[in-house]
Amino acid sequence: MRVALLGSGRGSNAEAILRAKQNNQLGRADIVGIFCDNPHAPMIKLGPRFGVPAFYLDPGPFKTKFSPEQEHVWANTLLSHKVDLVVLAGFMRVIKAPLLDAFKNKIINIHPSLLPAFPGLDGIGQTWRAGVNEGGCTVHWVTADVDGGHHLGQTKVSRENSDTLETFMDKIHAAEHILLPKVIAELSVL
Ligand code: GRF
Repeated sequence: MRVALLGSGRGSNAEAILRAKQNNQLGRADIVGIFCDNPHAPMIKLGPRFGVPAFYLDPGPFKTKFSPEQEHVWANTLLSHKVDLVVLAGFMRVIKAPLLDAFKNKIINIHPSLLPAFPGLDGIGQTWRAGVNEGGCTVHWVTADVDGGHHLGQTKVSRENSDTLETFMDKIHAAEHILLPKVIAELSVL
């Protein structure tokens, strides 16, 4: 299964996936490229570190969506890499028809909340401010309904009285780093 990792920033989830691959814990998945919409994303530096091609691709002039022309360029680039699964690993842009049509039921996303609760931006902050006693992370199929696709996996993280937003955030990120490689490995052997 040829996997593309798409991201916009830090890349800690991408790093967890690349480490899982190094440790033979990614099933039959191969990471064929890292694709970032931000030329300064630290995630791009994972390429040389893990021996995977890493690219910046222009998303167009908008902040949270592609321009239609550039979304076609992204779709064609991923098609030319013969990608079987697109993994949104901290990709801060809504995915629309050009990519959804080119990769029907082949795009997954990780979101830092227990969906359907707290979709959208800042899932951890939303969970924290709501004062609920647990949060977590969800891996789901990407559809036109933002953060609304069928769930592939979910991990709960409890909020203790001793937690601060930072410690709660760290626990959720740690859970993400286990869940996302696990789901990719499972999909690769279906
Ligand atoms: C993660 O919390 C993920 O759930 C969300 O964006 C964040 C990306 O972090 N979609 P990183 O770039 O993987 O470190």
